[in-house]
Amino acid sequence: MAEYGPHNRTDPASTDVSTRLTETFHQHFGSPDAGILIHAPGRVNLIGEHTDYNGLPVFPMAIRHGISVVSRARSDSIIRLINTDPDFEPLEFEISGVIPPYPTGHWGNYVKAAAQVLHREHGITRGFDGVLHGEVPAAAGLSSSSAVVVASGLTLLEHGETPADRMQLMDDFAGAEAYVGTRGGGMDQAISLGAKPGSACRIDFAPLRLRHVAIPDGWTFVVASSLVPAEKSGARQAVYNQRTEECRRALKLAGRGLVGIPPGTYPELMKGRSVEELLALAERSLADPLVRRFRHVVTETDRVSQAVEAMYQDTPSWFGRLMVGSHESLRDDYEVSCPELDELVDISMAAGAFGARLTGAGFGGCIVALTSADSAAAVLSALADSYYASRLDQAPSGQELFIAAPSGGASRTTL
Ligand code: GLA
Repeated sequence: MAEYGPHNRTDPASTDVSTRLTETFHQHFGSPDAGILIHAPGRVNLIGEHTDYNGLPVFPMAIRHGISVVSRARSDSIIRLINTDPDFEPLEFEISGVIPPYPTGHWGNYVKAAAQVLHREHGITRGFDGVLHGEVPAAAGLSSSSAVVVASGLTLLEHGETPADRMQLMDDFAGAEAYVGTRGGGMDQAISLGAKPGSACRIDFAPLRLRHVAIPDGWTFVVASSLVPAEKSGARQAVYNQRTEECRRALKLAGRGLVGIPPGTYPELMKGRSVEELLALAERSLADPLVRRFRHVVTETDRVSQAVEAMYQDTPSWFGRLMVGSHESLRDDYEVSCPELDELVDISMAAGAFGARLTGAGFGGCIVALTSADSAAAVLSALADSYYASRLDQAPSGQELFIAAPSGGASRTTL
């Protein structure tokens, strides 16, 4: 099975990671001969935040940091999976159509989510012994949890010898996360499966479509962690789900303000209507805070289209202005920022970035800043001095502050 991209072999797990995984596998399960290594990347979303679950476009890129799983098939339906991080306890469970979850917040629920959906949709029954290693900082808003779903799901499909269409899997894995109680969109799973090295990707959801845009030479994306955890399945899940619900209500109420049959989705509502018309509609039909949530969704969607154009035209100053607009909208209208993220954005801008914004769901996690190749060093050192020096005992590691390399989608290697 190679539907999810042998062309992406330029970005498999690093040799160090694969050696470490193979050694750990050996200690627990014996020889990994005839086993496989699956790598699923995390992502940084460049623009288009809190739009995916409204069926509206996003513009992320995959990063080198990802989740890697070394595994060997079993002859029964049991999954045994060790995490190289000792803070995450080993898993053992049986694949079925109704898998009882671990307690809320348990990392194993992302593996169970993949197993349950693949059993239901693709008849997968064959288990595996495996070791998982995460290079994506957990709870940093860089999609570590979706990369776990993708990596463990692809592992199951490989051992089940079940070919599956990549686009179908994007949908299956996005739906799978309902298992952990998140009413999210499909951005993270789509980019982890579908990214191309050196490119960002505009993803549309109605219908699902990926358009790769080569990142121009010199465009440098710096990622900086606020050190405030943003766990998708943790305490912030309730706020995330509340936003999705607010968007649904806003759509319904705004639709009532129109003549004719009310549109059932945001893409239907927005089709053929300008941003100005939509904002006027919101003013007429919505009260606070729904009017602000709606304004974010509409203006952010417009910023995504503009940002794609700005990248095609190699105009980083335009792209940067859109990022700042996105951050302000997320902070003021969508209310998902926090003082630490705002501070990181301010430091990056003062140090010469073209633009900066929170990335991912918000409430903590990371920011992404766009700089020129020349000014990246100044932005990195300003962040190190002004943000991390007072918060960390040592210089920030490559998990906290790094230049994101636009990477390929999930890949497979035979051991
Ligand atoms: C999380 C979700 C994504 C998306 C972002 C916000 O990362 O997993 O689907 O909704 O939040 O843009």
